[in-house]
Amino acid sequence: MQERLDALLSAARAELSAATDDAALEQWRVTHLGRRSEVTGLLRSVGSLPREERRAAGQAANAARRELESAFESRQAELRRSADGAQMDVTMPGYPVRLGSLHPLTRTLREIRRVLAPLGFRAVSGPEVEWDRYNFELLNIPADHPARDMWDTFHIDDKARPGELLLRTHTSPVQARVMEQIQPPVRVIVPGKVYRYEDRDASHEAEFMQVEGLAIDKHITMADLRGTLTYFVRAMFGPDRELRIRASYFPFTEPSAEAEMSCHACDGDGCPVCGGTGWIEILGSGMVHPKVLADVGYDPDVYQGFAFGMGVERIAMLKYGVTDIRSFYRNDLRFLRQLR
Ligand code: FA5
Repeated sequence: MQERLDALLSAARAELSAATDDAALEQWRVTHLGRRSEVTGLLRSVGSLPREERRAAGQAANAARRELESAFESRQAELRRSADGAQMDVTMPGYPVRLGSLHPLTRTLREIRRVLAPLGFRAVSGPEVEWDRYNFELLNIPADHPARDMWDTFHIDDKARPGELLLRTHTSPVQARVMEQIQPPVRVIVPGKVYRYEDRDASHEAEFMQVEGLAIDKHITMADLRGTLTYFVRAMFGPDRELRIRASYFPFTEPSAEAEMSCHACDGDGCPVCGGTGWIEILGSGMVHPKVLADVGYDPDVYQGFAFGMGVERIAMLKYGVTDIRSFYRNDLRFLRQLR
């Protein structure tokens, strides 16, 4: 009996490894494990053996059957695995990975910093919730000064300090904060969020970003301001964009100047983006007022300097040809992807 079983097993194993598809496998199963298979016949014949041989023969035949069953299952699993492998086309291109990108305002802000860094401007920051003293008083704008109307202000309703706290309306308060902290020479830029109680339109937001610039030293003149702004505009936009500097008024600078760039949307002809003027204002600037210097403890007879404050969204509008400032904050991915 054992010899027959051994012969049967080795023949069955050989056939099994030759079976390479489902049909051959099924054929093998019927032949070697079916009702008419040899092992089933042997099991049936056990009853007719002499009583003393039955037990051992039954055990051997059952063991052989189990071995055949497990060989069948392993082969079946093996064939399935290789079939799966064959179906997978490893040369097929994968799903494209969608790359994220920086927001255009973040990129603009970084570029402004990169352009100004070689001139020695170091970036510093200040609080967005600011004291009236820094936002106005130390900038030569006392409580009843009409220039306060230039900045429509969100006041913080703090019962303990009525009228003292506000959301900063510009980054200029950081000028005073920096000058209180360090002695000249000073060369800093202040990127940050500012807030104004304003109606929103194509070129005005109520919450936007500015970059303040401040340079104080012994022999700084208006020519340095002009040179710095011209360098900035050329580095940001290339040599073709026009810059014009016009006299302006800010209580904390004297003289004051406003810098405008030719409108990107109409190339200076006048359109809704530039309010029909052909120019878009990008920054306010001027020579720091002697009173501002004196109030922070600098001697205005020894030190002078210039300051400027630019709108980051306005720069980004010019850079990317955006005609409505509000698009930057709508988070519409179709818009953001266009500017990548
Ligand atoms: C100021 O805020 C002054 N602090 C600038 C300054 C700094 C003058 C240092 C002198 C010395 P102004 O309010 O003009 O000035 O704003 C400066 C720039 O911020 C504007 O030129 C414009 O580019 C941008 N800006 C002003 N209001 C808005 C607004 N509502 N939405 C978007 N950008 C604005």
